[in-house]
Amino acid sequence: MAIILNGKEISKERKAQMKIQVEQLRQKYGRPPHLAVVLVGDDPASLSYVRGKEKACLEVGIFNTTIRLSEQTSEKELLECIAELNENPLIDGILVQLPLPEQIREFVIINAISLEKDVDGFHPRNVAGLYLKQPCLYPCTPKGILTLLKSIPDFSLDGKKAVVIGRSNIVGLPTFKMLLDQNVTVSVAHSKTENLQELTQSADILVVAVGKPKFLKAEMVRPGVVVIDVGINRDPQTNKLCGDVDFEQVEPLASYITKVPGGVGPMTICSLMENTIEVFEKRVAKK
Ligand code: GUN
Repeated sequence: MAIILNGKEISKERKAQMKIQVEQLRQKYGRPPHLAVVLVGDDPASLSYVRGKEKACLEVGIFNTTIRLSEQTSEKELLECIAELNENPLIDGILVQLPLPEQIREFVIINAISLEKDVDGFHPRNVAGLYLKQPCLYPCTPKGILTLLKSIPDFSLDGKKAVVIGRSNIVGLPTFKMLLDQNVTVSVAHSKTENLQELTQSADILVVAVGKPKFLKAEMVRPGVVVIDVGINRDPQTNKLCGDVDFEQVEPLASYITKVPGGVGPMTICSLMENTIEVFEKRVAKK
Protein backbone atom coordinates (compact mmCIF):
# COMPACT_ATOMS: atom_id res chain seq x y z
CA MET A 1 0.00 0.00 0.00
CA ALA A 2 1.29 3.42 -0.91
CA ILE A 3 1.62 6.48 1.26
CA ILE A 4 -0.49 9.32 -0.12
CA LEU A 5 1.37 12.49 -1.07
CA ASN A 6 -1.31 14.78 0.24
CA GLY A 7 -1.17 18.00 -1.77
CA LYS A 8 -4.18 19.38 0.02
CA GLU A 9 -2.49 19.05 3.44
CA ILE A 10 0.93 20.29 2.31
CA SER A 11 -0.61 23.30 0.57
CA LYS A 12 -2.72 24.04 3.65
CA GLU A 13 0.41 24.18 5.81
CA ARG A 14 2.27 26.34 3.31
CA LYS A 15 -0.68 28.70 2.89
CA ALA A 16 -0.85 29.15 6.68
CA GLN A 17 2.84 30.18 6.65
CA MET A 18 2.26 32.48 3.68
CA LYS A 19 -0.65 34.13 5.45
CA ILE A 20 1.72 35.24 8.22
CA GLN A 21 4.31 36.38 5.67
CA VAL A 22 1.70 38.36 3.68
CA GLU A 23 0.45 40.08 6.83
CA GLN A 24 4.04 41.14 7.63
CA LEU A 25 4.47 42.43 4.07
CA ARG A 26 1.18 44.31 4.27
CA GLN A 27 2.31 46.02 7.46
CA LYS A 28 5.73 46.84 6.03
CA TYR A 29 4.63 48.12 2.62
CA GLY A 30 1.10 49.33 3.33
CA ARG A 31 -0.63 46.89 1.02
CA PRO A 32 -0.66 43.14 0.31
CA PRO A 33 0.47 41.58 -2.99
CA HIS A 34 -2.14 41.90 -5.74
CA LEU A 35 -2.79 39.16 -8.30
CA ALA A 36 -4.83 39.83 -11.46
CA VAL A 37 -6.39 36.80 -13.12
CA VAL A 38 -7.80 37.11 -16.63
CA LEU A 39 -10.40 34.60 -17.75
CA VAL A 40 -11.56 34.64 -21.36
CA GLY A 41 -14.78 32.72 -22.04
CA ASP A 42 -16.63 30.39 -19.73
CA ASP A 43 -15.01 26.98 -20.07
CA PRO A 44 -16.25 25.15 -16.94
CA ALA A 45 -12.82 23.67 -16.07
CA SER A 46 -11.11 27.07 -16.37
CA LEU A 47 -13.87 28.67 -14.30
CA SER A 48 -13.32 26.10 -11.58
CA TYR A 49 -9.51 26.61 -11.62
CA VAL A 50 -9.96 30.37 -11.40
CA ARG A 51 -12.31 29.96 -8.43
CA GLY A 52 -9.63 27.85 -6.73
CA LYS A 53 -7.09 30.62 -7.25
CA GLU A 54 -9.49 33.26 -5.89
CA LYS A 55 -10.17 31.15 -2.80
CA ALA A 56 -6.45 30.65 -2.14
CA CYS A 57 -5.80 34.40 -2.44
CA LEU A 58 -8.49 35.04 0.13
CA GLU A 59 -6.97 32.44 2.49
CA VAL A 60 -3.46 33.84 2.20
CA GLY A 61 -4.46 37.52 2.27
CA ILE A 62 -3.35 38.26 -1.29
CA PHE A 63 -5.53 40.85 -3.00
CA ASN A 64 -7.18 39.43 -6.11
CA THR A 65 -8.89 40.93 -9.12
CA THR A 66 -10.44 38.62 -11.69
CA ILE A 67 -11.19 40.09 -15.10
CA ARG A 68 -13.77 38.13 -17.06
CA LEU A 69 -13.88 38.65 -20.80
CA SER A 70 -16.28 37.13 -23.31
CA GLU A 71 -15.45 34.13 -25.50
CA GLN A 72 -15.55 36.51 -28.50
CA THR A 73 -12.77 38.77 -27.15
CA SER A 74 -10.24 39.58 -29.89
CA GLU A 75 -6.48 39.22 -29.50
CA LYS A 76 -6.18 43.02 -29.72
CA GLU A 77 -8.68 43.53 -26.89
CA LEU A 78 -6.88 41.03 -24.68
CA LEU A 79 -3.55 42.70 -25.46
CA GLU A 80 -5.05 46.06 -24.42
CA CYS A 81 -6.25 44.52 -21.15
CA ILE A 82 -2.78 43.11 -20.48
CA ALA A 83 -1.12 46.44 -21.32
CA GLU A 84 -3.30 48.13 -18.68
CA LEU A 85 -2.41 45.49 -16.09
CA ASN A 86 1.28 45.77 -16.99
CA GLU A 87 1.18 49.51 -16.44
CA ASN A 88 -0.88 49.45 -13.26
CA PRO A 89 1.63 49.93 -10.41
CA LEU A 90 -0.75 48.32 -7.91
CA ILE A 91 -0.87 45.00 -9.78
CA ASP A 92 2.02 42.68 -8.93
CA GLY A 93 1.15 39.45 -10.72
CA ILE A 94 -0.78 38.69 -13.92
CA LEU A 95 -2.16 35.29 -14.88
CA VAL A 96 -4.10 34.68 -18.08
CA GLN A 97 -5.98 31.42 -17.71
CA LEU A 98 -5.25 28.97 -20.53
CA PRO A 99 -6.47 27.65 -22.90
CA LEU A 100 -7.61 30.72 -24.82
CA PRO A 101 -10.30 30.81 -27.54
CA GLU A 102 -8.93 29.92 -30.98
CA GLN A 103 -8.93 33.51 -32.33
CA ILE A 104 -6.25 34.39 -29.74
CA ARG A 105 -2.67 33.20 -30.08
CA GLU A 106 -1.38 32.01 -26.71
CA PHE A 107 2.24 32.80 -27.49
CA VAL A 108 1.41 36.41 -28.37
CA ILE A 109 -0.45 36.85 -25.10
CA ILE A 110 2.16 35.16 -22.91
CA ASN A 111 4.85 37.27 -24.56
CA ALA A 112 2.90 40.46 -23.81
CA ILE A 113 2.74 39.92 -20.05
CA SER A 114 5.38 41.98 -18.28
CA LEU A 115 8.30 39.72 -17.35
CA GLU A 116 8.31 40.94 -13.76
CA LYS A 117 4.57 40.17 -13.35
CA ASP A 118 4.60 36.74 -15.01
CA VAL A 119 3.54 34.59 -12.04
CA ASP A 120 2.91 31.61 -14.35
CA GLY A 121 6.56 31.55 -15.43
CA PHE A 122 5.42 31.16 -19.05
CA HIS A 123 7.10 34.26 -20.52
CA PRO A 124 9.85 33.28 -23.01
CA ARG A 125 12.48 34.95 -20.83
CA ASN A 126 11.34 33.02 -17.75
CA VAL A 127 11.44 29.84 -19.85
CA ALA A 128 14.96 30.76 -20.99
CA GLY A 129 15.90 31.46 -17.36
CA LEU A 130 14.82 27.94 -16.41
CA TYR A 131 16.87 26.37 -19.21
CA LEU A 132 19.93 28.56 -18.64
CA LYS A 133 19.77 28.29 -14.84
CA GLN A 134 19.28 32.01 -14.38
CA PRO A 135 17.06 33.53 -11.69
CA CYS A 136 13.46 33.22 -12.93
CA LEU A 137 9.92 32.39 -11.93
CA TYR A 138 9.20 28.68 -12.08
CA PRO A 139 5.93 27.48 -13.61
CA CYS A 140 3.42 26.57 -10.91
CA THR A 141 2.60 22.92 -11.61
CA PRO A 142 6.21 21.68 -11.98
CA LYS A 143 7.18 23.72 -8.91
CA GLY A 144 4.34 22.06 -6.98
CA ILE A 145 5.45 18.62 -8.19
CA LEU A 146 8.99 19.29 -6.93
CA THR A 147 7.60 20.41 -3.57
CA LEU A 148 5.64 17.15 -3.32
CA LEU A 149 8.68 15.03 -4.19
CA LYS A 150 10.85 16.91 -1.70
CA SER A 151 8.26 16.29 1.02
CA ILE A 152 9.02 12.54 0.95
CA PRO A 153 11.07 11.71 4.07
CA ASP A 154 14.58 10.29 3.53
CA PHE A 155 14.12 10.33 -0.24
CA SER A 156 16.92 11.79 -2.31
CA LEU A 157 16.23 12.71 -5.92
CA ASP A 158 19.93 12.40 -6.75
CA GLY A 159 20.49 9.75 -9.41
CA LYS A 160 16.88 8.56 -9.54
CA LYS A 161 15.28 7.61 -12.85
CA ALA A 162 12.13 9.56 -13.76
CA VAL A 163 9.79 9.22 -16.69
CA VAL A 164 7.60 12.22 -17.45
CA ILE A 165 4.69 11.22 -19.69
CA GLY A 166 3.57 14.32 -21.61
CA ARG A 167 5.59 17.07 -23.30
CA SER A 168 3.49 20.21 -22.81
CA ASN A 169 5.05 23.63 -22.30
CA ILE A 170 3.11 24.00 -19.03
CA VAL A 171 3.93 20.68 -17.36
CA GLY A 172 6.01 18.07 -19.21
CA LEU A 173 8.92 20.15 -20.46
CA PRO A 174 9.54 22.33 -17.38
CA THR A 175 9.13 19.28 -15.10
CA PHE A 176 11.79 17.54 -17.19
CA LYS A 177 14.23 20.41 -16.71
CA MET A 178 13.49 20.94 -13.02
CA LEU A 179 14.00 17.23 -12.28
CA LEU A 180 17.18 17.22 -14.37
CA ASP A 181 18.48 20.12 -12.25
CA GLN A 182 17.95 17.91 -9.19
CA ASN A 183 20.29 15.30 -10.71
CA VAL A 184 17.45 13.03 -11.77
CA THR A 185 17.92 11.03 -14.97
CA VAL A 186 14.81 12.00 -16.89
CA SER A 187 13.05 10.61 -19.96
CA VAL A 188 10.11 12.37 -21.57
CA ALA A 189 7.55 10.07 -23.14
CA HIS A 190 4.67 11.07 -25.43
CA SER A 191 1.97 9.67 -27.70
CA LYS A 192 4.53 8.41 -30.26
CA THR A 193 6.83 6.73 -27.72
CA GLU A 194 7.46 3.10 -28.60
CA ASN A 195 7.60 0.46 -25.86
CA LEU A 196 6.23 2.90 -23.31
CA GLN A 197 5.64 0.13 -20.80
CA GLU A 198 9.29 -0.91 -20.89
CA LEU A 199 10.28 2.69 -20.20
CA THR A 200 7.77 3.32 -17.40
CA GLN A 201 8.71 0.04 -15.74
CA SER A 202 12.28 1.32 -15.38
CA ALA A 203 11.19 4.48 -13.53
CA ASP A 204 11.68 5.28 -9.85
CA ILE A 205 9.46 8.33 -10.35
CA LEU A 206 6.56 8.65 -12.79
CA VAL A 207 4.98 12.01 -13.60
CA VAL A 208 1.87 11.46 -15.67
CA ALA A 209 0.47 14.44 -17.58
CA VAL A 210 -1.30 13.04 -20.62
CA GLY A 211 -4.90 14.15 -20.08
CA LYS A 212 -6.31 10.63 -20.51
CA PRO A 213 -8.45 9.18 -17.72
CA LYS A 214 -6.78 6.25 -15.89
CA PHE A 215 -4.06 5.95 -18.56
CA LEU A 216 -1.36 4.51 -16.27
CA LYS A 217 -2.11 0.88 -15.44
CA ALA A 218 -0.58 -1.61 -12.98
CA GLU A 219 1.47 -3.44 -15.63
CA MET A 220 3.22 -0.18 -16.54
CA VAL A 221 4.89 0.35 -13.14
CA ARG A 222 7.44 -1.37 -11.02
CA PRO A 223 6.86 -1.97 -7.30
CA GLY A 224 8.01 0.89 -5.09
CA VAL A 225 7.56 3.59 -7.73
CA VAL A 226 6.66 7.17 -6.75
CA VAL A 227 3.70 8.33 -8.84
CA ILE A 228 2.66 11.93 -9.48
CA ASP A 229 -0.68 12.26 -11.26
CA VAL A 230 -1.15 15.61 -13.00
CA GLY A 231 -4.37 14.71 -14.83
CA ILE A 232 -7.79 16.14 -14.09
CA ASN A 233 -10.38 14.23 -16.10
CA ARG A 234 -13.91 12.96 -15.88
CA ASP A 235 -14.21 9.20 -15.70
CA PRO A 236 -16.38 8.43 -18.76
CA GLN A 237 -18.13 5.62 -16.84
CA THR A 238 -18.91 7.34 -13.54
CA ASN A 239 -18.52 11.00 -14.56
CA LYS A 240 -16.46 11.44 -11.36
CA LEU A 241 -13.21 13.41 -11.30
CA CYS A 242 -10.21 11.17 -11.96
CA GLY A 243 -6.55 11.47 -12.87
CA ASP A 244 -4.31 10.05 -15.58
CA VAL A 245 -3.43 7.18 -13.24
CA ASP A 246 -5.65 4.18 -12.60
CA PHE A 247 -5.40 4.74 -8.85
CA GLU A 248 -7.03 1.45 -7.80
CA GLN A 249 -4.56 -0.53 -9.91
CA VAL A 250 -1.38 1.46 -9.29
CA GLU A 251 -1.70 2.48 -5.63
CA PRO A 252 -1.03 -1.04 -4.23
CA LEU A 253 2.28 -1.15 -6.13
CA ALA A 254 3.52 2.39 -5.46
CA SER A 255 5.52 3.58 -2.45
CA TYR A 256 4.11 7.14 -2.69
CA ILE A 257 1.28 8.38 -4.88
CA THR A 258 -0.86 11.49 -5.35
CA LYS A 259 -4.65 11.46 -5.52
CA VAL A 260 -7.00 13.33 -7.82
CA PRO A 261 -8.40 15.58 -6.50
CA GLY A 262 -6.18 16.66 -3.59
CA GLY A 263 -2.74 16.01 -5.08
CA VAL A 264 -1.03 18.19 -7.68
CA GLY A 265 -3.96 20.64 -8.12
CA PRO A 266 -3.67 22.31 -4.69
CA MET A 267 0.13 22.39 -5.06
CA THR A 268 -0.16 24.32 -8.34
CA ILE A 269 -2.26 26.95 -6.58
CA CYS A 270 0.16 26.99 -3.65
CA SER A 271 3.06 27.68 -6.05
CA LEU A 272 1.03 30.49 -7.62
CA MET A 273 0.66 32.11 -4.20
CA GLU A 274 4.45 31.71 -3.64
CA ASN A 275 5.20 33.27 -7.03
CA THR A 276 2.83 36.17 -6.35
CA ILE A 277 4.61 36.92 -3.08
CA GLU A 278 7.98 36.61 -4.84
CA VAL A 279 7.09 39.13 -7.58
CA PHE A 280 5.63 41.50 -4.99
CA GLU A 281 8.81 41.40 -2.91
CA LYS A 282 10.95 42.03 -5.99
CA ARG A 283 8.75 44.92 -7.12
CA VAL A 284 8.61 46.67 -3.75
CA ALA A 285 12.35 46.14 -3.24
CA LYS A 286 13.00 48.00 -6.53
CA LYS A 287 11.24 51.17 -5.36
N1 GUN B 1 -4.35 26.16 -17.56
C1 GUN B 1 -4.01 24.95 -17.02
N2 GUN B 1 -2.96 25.10 -16.20
C2 GUN B 1 -2.64 26.40 -16.19
C3 GUN B 1 -1.65 27.17 -15.51
O1 GUN B 1 -0.81 26.66 -14.75
N3 GUN B 1 -1.67 28.50 -15.76
C4 GUN B 1 -2.55 29.08 -16.62
N4 GUN B 1 -2.46 30.40 -16.82
N5 GUN B 1 -3.47 28.41 -17.26
C5 GUN B 1 -3.52 27.07 -17.05
